[in-house]
Amino acid sequence: MARRLWVGTSWKMNKTRAEATAWCTALTTRPAVAGVNVFIMPPFTALSLVAERLVGGSFIVGAQDVHWEDEGAWTGAISAPQVWDCGARMAEIGHSERRRWFGETDETVAAKTAAAIRHGLTPLVCVGETAAERAAGAADAVLERQARAALSRGPGDVMLAYEPVWAIGAGGTQADPGYVRDRIARLRSTAAGLGSAPKVLYGGSVDETNCAAYIRDAGSDGVFVGRAALDAEQFHAIICICAKMA
Ligand code: PGA
Repeated sequence: MARRLWVGTSWKMNKTRAEATAWCTALTTRPAVAGVNVFIMPPFTALSLVAERLVGGSFIVGAQDVHWEDEGAWTGAISAPQVWDCGARMAEIGHSERRRWFGETDETVAAKTAAAIRHGLTPLVCVGETAAERAAGAADAVLERQARAALSRGPGDVMLAYEPVWAIGAGGTQADPGYVRDRIARLRSTAAGLGSAPKVLYGGSVDETNCAAYIRDAGSDGVFVGRAALDAEQFHAIICICAKMA
């Protein structure tokens, strides 16, 4: 049976509600694409709006983070039940920007993953080594540690996104699909050792020109897109390419 691929985006801290509306209109007026799971992770402020705009399509909406507690005195935080209430069915957890700038650790990632699972959200846990860790030959050790934290709170379907930190963002370097293939293979064997077989997506400077290689040559289950998907037309083009590969 052909495997069903995943294509998703996080908008990070981008788009007002008006811009989110325009993006949804641009996406939904393009031809629907079957055979691929598509998810969109807007900022919290546009979560309800995007969920309402995309309802009825085959799109999944997700949050970019959730807190590990369900409610309480956690100023500025948003919980899994709250994002579920806004229409989210997935939750991104442990993106490298959150690990770097917001003090996310393997412990908080594990606790947040458990909270997502508890409330029916599919966690998409981001793992990836920094340039320094890669240079020190520690990439696989870092990935194993991060993946263990992500997968330690089962049962529940956890998805992983392999995102080498050095490949993300405007200053990032595109990763070689062969390098990605080896890292993903190690992630899969770590997961298998824990009795888990998560979907593993690839993220980091993915666009129309390289998404096929990150699926075909790197053996991922799909792609997780940042900058290139801020434009709905480009995101649609990536979805179309991936749908042909399923
Ligand atoms: P990018 O972001 O595609 O803009 O490199 C990817 C990510 O952080 O997931």
